[in-house]
Amino acid sequence: MNLLAISGSLRANSSNMRLLKALSLLLPSGSVLRFYEGLGNLPHFNPDLDVEPAPPPVGAFREQLRWADAVVISSPEYAHGVPGSLKNALDWVVGSGDLVEKPVALLNASPRSTFAQAALAETLRTMSAVVLEEASVTIPLRGSKQNAEEIAANSELAALLQTALQVLETNTQSSGISP
Ligand SMILES: Cc1cc2nc3c(=O)[nH]c(=O)nc-3n(C[C@H](O)[C@H](O)[C@H](O)COP(=O)(O)O)c2cc1C
Repeated sequence: MNLLAISGSLRANSSNMRLLKALSLLLPSGSVLRFYEGLGNLPHFNPDLDVEPAPPPVGAFREQLRWADAVVISSPEYAHGVPGSLKNALDWVVGSGDLVEKPVALLNASPRSTFAQAALAETLRTMSAVVLEEASVTIPLRGSKQNAEEIAANSELAALLQTALQVLETNTQSSGISP
């Protein structure tokens, strides 16, 4: 399967990015994971600009989504909400429909951050994405300095991530989205 990983944090040493990198180390053979790195470069969503041709960073984001059989998002919570840059990115694909019927796993690196997860799931469902509850695992990384390799080598944490990957694989196979 082709997986697109999106971290909702722009921070250099983001725990959410470390979690996604750990996931990439545990990929089943034959799967490919790409990181979407353009979150901070997207223009503010403006329906007046949501026309063809889309602004180049928006076009690149949509292309990456079209490449992906499934999407994995790991996001922090800011003031009980979804980070603005992530919500902005999602707003750019409401009209284009690039997330319609796309399986999405929501990782959560902080067990106490429940508001953003719920809001993110609601937004994605509104956009007709398929939020996979069983692949949406919470991994307690808050305050942890573990790097991706250490997370992947921790059998308890790795098992949670592998569960997410298995559910994603099952759902991409059955959806028939894979080329
Ligand atoms: C401006 C700001 C607001 C935050 N608000 C919340 C919050 O409402 N709830 C929460 O659980 N954590 C909150 N946090 C903590 C972050 O979600 C937490 O530090 C997270 O691990 C950061 O993710 P990262 O390591 O990937 O950057 C906030 C952090 C910042 C900087």
